[in-house]
This record gives sequence, C-alpha cells and structure tokens, in this order.
Amino acid sequence: MSEYRVLGIETSCDETAAAIVTSKAADGARFAPGKLRILSQALVSQIEDHSPYGGVVPEIAARAHLDILDSLVRRALDDAGLTLEGIDAFAATAGPGLIGGVLVGVMTAKALALVTGKPFLGVNHLEAHALSVRLVEPVTFPYLLLLVSGGHSQFLAVEGVGTCRRLGTTIDDAPGEAFDKVAKMLGLGHPGGPRVERRARDGDPQRFPLPRPMVGRPGCDLSFSGLKTAVRQTVEKLGRPTEADINDLCASFQEAVAGCLASRTRAAIRLFSERHGTGRPLVIAGGVAANTRIREALDAVARDCAMTFHAPPVSLCTDNAAMVACAGLERLALGLTDPLDFKARPRWPLDPDAPPSIGAGRARA
Ligand code: KG4
Ligand code: ZN
Repeated sequence: MSEYRVLGIETSCDETAAAIVTSKAADGARFAPGKLRILSQALVSQIEDHSPYGGVVPEIAARAHLDILDSLVRRALDDAGLTLEGIDAFAATAGPGLIGGVLVGVMTAKALALVTGKPFLGVNHLEAHALSVRLVEPVTFPYLLLLVSGGHSQFLAVEGVGTCRRLGTTIDDAPGEAFDKVAKMLGLGHPGGPRVERRARDGDPQRFPLPRPMVGRPGCDLSFSGLKTAVRQTVEKLGRPTEADINDLCASFQEAVAGCLASRTRAAIRLFSERHGTGRPLVIAGGVAANTRIREALDAVARDCAMTFHAPPVSLCTDNAAMVACAGLERLALGLTDPLDFKARPRWPLDPDAPPSIGAGRARA
C-alpha cells in the first residue's frame, strides 16, 4: 500500500484554509476514489472582517489571507504530525476567485514546492468542488454534477479530471447569492444559506406561493433573480414581518429553490443520458449542497431516475482546503503537475468550450 500526502490551500474568497489529505491506493496507483483520509484541516473564516460592509471586500480578504495563511499551514502540519518533508506535493486554488487572495495561496504553495523540491499543483476551485465527493465515496466518471454555490450554478457532465462539459447554467444569479440576498432582506445576516435553512425548519413551506423560474423550458438552464424579486415583493406587502412570517417566507423560498433545482435536474438528466446513458451517479456539490431540503429533493429525483445520489459531507460542501488537496491528489496521480510560473486566473471556466455564463466570475468563486 503506497501513501501520498498533498497539502492543499484555499484562499479564493473569504475562507483561509490549509489541509493535508492522504490517499491509500493499492500499490502503483496514487489515487483511488473514496479511499482518502483527511489528516488535518485548519480553516479560518473572515465573515467578521467583512460584515460591516455587507459583502466580501477584496482588499480586506487578500490582506487577511496573507496575515494568517502561514500559521494555518504550520497548524495543518503540526496536527498531522508531519514536517514539510512528509508532503509529496503542494496544491492551491489558482482560480477562479478574488485574484488578490488567490495570489496569496498560489505564491505560498509555490514557495513551499520550491524549498522542498516537490511538485506544485494549480487547482481550479470549481474542479475542487466537482471532485470533492470522491474524497469520501468511490464515485466513478462520468457523473452528472449540480454545482451550486455563492457564485456558480451549473449542470456539468464530469467525464474525468480536467474534462467537464457544461449542460446548463444560471442565466442570472446563483442560488447561494439568492439565499444571501433573501437573508439580507429579512435581516438575518451573512452568510444567508445556513440562516435561512435554520428559520425554514419552523416555517410553513406552502404559505407563500413563489414562482419556479425556468421550469418546463427547453434545456436545463436556471434562474433565481425572479424568485428573489418575488420574495422582496412579499416582504414589502407584509410591511413588518413577524418572526412567524420570516420562518414561513424562508421555508417557502427554500421550497421554491429546491423545486426549481429538482425540476431542472430532471431536464439535465435527460441531456446527460443522451451521451452517457442511464444509471450513472448524480452528484451535488458547492456551498448550497449543504442544504438538507435541497439534498432530499435531489435524492428523490435520483431515485426516480434509477440513479445513485451522492453529496459530500456538509463540512466539505462550503469552501475548504481538503477538496483542494483532494483535486491536487487526483492531478498528481495523473502526472498533471504545474510549473512554478503557472499563472493565477480570476476567471477559469471548467468547460472552456461553453459560452461565458452571465454572472460567472463574480466576487464569490
Ligand atoms: O462554495 P461556497 O462556500 O463558496 C463559493 O464558492 O461561493 O458557497 C457559499 C454559498 C453562500 O452563498 C451560502 O449562503 C451558501 O453557499 N450556503 C447555503 C447553505 N450553506 C451555505 N445555502 C443554502 N443552505 C445552506 N445550508
Ligand atoms: Zn466554492
């Protein structure tokens, strides 16, 4: 049994993180999906630094990453009981994201690679989300992925490492952004997703009839801005919403997002099956994949379509460095290491052949 250890770094938005992941593949192979172990994880969120401004401020983010990253790398090594010599490669998110922060992570990983003489891996943040499920489950290619986060919303056919085909995307907002904006309207604070989900638990999902944008249209594109506007109009009509109103509105909004995603996933499955046949896995990833109601809705669709459903553990859905280390391990296993002059990229679509999507490359990667 050979063991490979990769140190991953994540700095593309408002989380600074370092993690060490090891793969225990059979001799000769460096990577086997589902056979990974997280040896250590150190993560610090900058939510407090940005909260006075109501959103992520790029300059503050970059400075905060710079201040803390070294100590997180040290902590990840200490917690794993390792020194730099025990690491086989250094991976960092090299885009897409807020470029100041991305540069901090990339420069740190390159410096560590240089002093140890070990390989550097520039990881696409979206690919890290896309492959994150393989950290914990033996999901094989190809699979249909719904990637839903604060800045992205895409259906992808994940055909292999570095090979994704986009089947559909949002034509306006990402669902995480809609969760965050709805939370703001209701005075629930940031980040909105977990707060809306908590309030929705005590609410009535049927009370407010909200639209299900794009449902029934050809293709599998998504849209969330109309839903957000409908919530705004409902809040205005309510005047001063009571605690019960807020709970009901959160539940109704969450139900509408889950309904849209489920319905559009059925359409995406039809498109995916044309090329890859039936019975392949359905995977959800990204921050919004942490939502229990949305996971349930997709699980039901998968069962209906004779597909298996897979989602990373909640802690690996939102931005983290273990998924970066995992994607790094996958690339290392294929010999896909990067030179030290590899450039960080503010925009970096997973499917280079897909037309640019509206909203891609926003502040939240
Ligand atoms: O993947 P992520 O950490 O960062 C990006 O790459 O965007 O996703 C963050 C987004 C935020 O918009 C947050 O509100 C949303 O994911 N989110 C959730 C939940 N937890 C995080 N949305 C719905 N329900 C949740 N439980
Ligand atoms: Zn992310």
